[in-house]
Amino acid sequence: FGAFYAYLGTVESTQEVLKNWALDGAEEGAVVLAERQLKGRGRRGRAWASEPGKSLTFSVLLRPALPLSALPLLPLAAGLALREACGLGGLKWPNDLLSPDGRKLAGVLLEAQVSGEEVAWVLLGIGLNVHRGVLPDGAAALEEFLEVSRVQLLARLLEHLEARYTQLRDPPALLRDYRAMSYTLGQRVRVATARGVLEGQAIDIAADGALVVQSADTTHHIGAGDVELIGF
Ligand code: BTN
Repeated sequence: FGAFYAYLGTVESTQEVLKNWALDGAEEGAVVLAERQLKGRGRRGRAWASEPGKSLTFSVLLRPALPLSALPLLPLAAGLALREACGLGGLKWPNDLLSPDGRKLAGVLLEAQVSGEEVAWVLLGIGLNVHRGVLPDGAAALEEFLEVSRVQLLARLLEHLEARYTQLRDPPALLRDYRAMSYTLGQRVRVATARGVLEGQAIDIAADGALVVQSADTTHHIGAGDVELIGF
């Protein structure tokens, strides 16, 4: 990843720039990085704020030659790569990187263009807080824990992303490694899904990447949702 590369100043969102590249036929692994986003996007329709010079804010183009059924593991692969590249913390399902004291260091946004059973492209966006600055509540910067260089981190991130992306062809190995880096498994969780909010114990990550939550008498298989770790 990263052979085709743009390092930009201010953009609306690196996801938007990369989408235009994708429409123009850009190759898999193309990367758009920006210092400032005017309309940074987070998961579930939220905004993503980052300070110029303090974060790594970029998007990578994927053109997965994979069945649609392999795609649900992509968020986990991206989260795992993020954890490996940073070398500390753990993952809040599916792919938030949390510091050891439970604050958010980074997030991943995946936006896919699907037609029928074909995936035309996926825009994999990462926002990582590297240096201290004005951070949202509950967020942390990697620099609080490690001596870091953005250049080195970016190189490591692209390397790990490529390796874990390739490993989508071996789901059991990917899931084993993902589970080992999870801060979610074994915790009490509150999960907001399209069907409402539920509370229970996070007991497993299923073969399809879903979070398995045990509440009083029901086992829930959660494909998409927002997790809160209770009492972490
Ligand atoms: C989250 O909500 O946790 C995901 C945040 C993803 C933010 C990144 S920053 C680079 C890319 N461009 C965007 O507009 N969003 C993603």
